[in-house]
Amino acid sequence: MKKWIMSGLFFFACTFALVLMFTVPGRDHEAAEEAGPVMPQVTLDAASAEEKAKASCITCHGNQLEGGVGPSLQTVGAELNAEQIYKTITKGKGGGKMPAFEGKLSEEEIANLALWLAEKK
Ligand code: HEC
Repeated sequence: MKKWIMSGLFFFACTFALVLMFTVPGRDHEAAEEAGPVMPQVTLDAASAEEKAKASCITCHGNQLEGGVGPSLQTVGAELNAEQIYKTITKGKGGGKMPAFEGKLSEEEIANLALWLAEKK
């Protein structure tokens, strides 16, 4: 009977150790992700994205996004995914050459632009 309890405890201890092994690195991973801007979930609204791009982006990226002061964005989706584009728009790039739009556009507007641009391949 005692042996049965001991092996039960041993099994419990092993399970507990396994759970710890899997949850602790998981937490580290989440913490690392929190460091960067996290793209909110939005459904693509192409008309709204185009409108925002006309208002905020074409001065540098060109009327047809063909490039100007900034690089062409016509095939940016082939290079970058929506998350990466979201980070670039939010935080800017190239030491301020590409301005940060954090606070100028809402997170949802930036996410919508990022989804729209990620489709351009
Ligand atoms: C003041 C000019 C300017 C404006 C306005 C601007 N950009 Fe940029 N953008 C740049 C420059 C310059 C770069 C290149 C930065 C570098 O790589 O050093 C860039 C880079 C980018 C990149 C990365 C492209 C790549 O291939 O790595 C994306 C995506 C982008 N811009 C999107 C946008 C969007 C969307 C808007 C509007 C919300 C916008 N930009 C507005 C100047 C601008």
